[in-house]
Amino acid sequence: MKKSNLNAQIIHSFLKNSSIQLDILNEVTSTNDYLKNYSIKKDPVICIAETQTKGRGRMGRAWHSPFGENIYLSLRYSFQKNLNQLSSLSLVVALAMCKAIETYIQLKHPLLIKWPNDVMINQKKLGGNLIEVLHHSHNFCQVIIGIGINVNMTQDQNTISQPWTSLSELTHKVQDRNSLCAKLIEQLLNYLEKFNKKNLKNFLEEWNKRDYLKNQPIRLSSDHAIFEGVGDGINDLGQLILKMKNGEKKAFSAGEVRILK
Ligand code: BTN
Repeated sequence: MKKSNLNAQIIHSFLKNSSIQLDILNEVTSTNDYLKNYSIKKDPVICIAETQTKGRGRMGRAWHSPFGENIYLSLRYSFQKNLNQLSSLSLVVALAMCKAIETYIQLKHPLLIKWPNDVMINQKKLGGNLIEVLHHSHNFCQVIIGIGINVNMTQDQNTISQPWTSLSELTHKVQDRNSLCAKLIEQLLNYLEKFNKKNLKNFLEEWNKRDYLKNQPIRLSSDHAIFEGVGDGINDLGQLILKMKNGEKKAFSAGEVRILK
């Protein structure tokens, strides 16, 4: 297959709910930023770009966004929830990303999630998400969910510090971003609707099957300190549980995690 451009008409043709607002841009600083100043008030709205000049990742990192290679997609969405009920949203989004990729293509290795949001395959990162809150009040929360998936990027386009891979590297074939975008939009809307009505408990079984850190020796660095323990899943709030050397279990809501080998 030849690499093709993103095309709103093609993506819409794959979608059941084709009335969704979908903007495709050639170049933007960041798709998350584009939706921050968006004039249309009604949610959900989606923006996908061919390239980002200031793509952003978690922890203030840059997100490598070469032209025409990957998916850089943002979705603005409103929840009937309080802000504190959204702490596990990045986990749910990562689950939706895995499901979308698996419905698009069969891969040799399972897709796992490194808490809180890295989509991993074969110990390498395939994608991630960045969630930013726009407005919140009682029982209302509007967020921007930014998703990056490495689709056709090759290792010679490499300025990325951590081990990563792409779908084309895994399959030795150029992949169809329009079709994957449609799967991603469909799964995101499914998962977010369910999360809006319910809570993380309804996703725990699925999370446990995709938990990259389960039973792994881990170092977690937060702003204040470094902790070491063994990954013991997550709790109902989506916090990471570490079993410490003394047998005590500690829950963490933020931090940078590394597997110790
Ligand atoms: C991470 O794993 O650090 C999160 C990466 C999120 C990248 C996406 S690409 C689309 C959206 N726009 C951005 O600037 N960032 C997110």
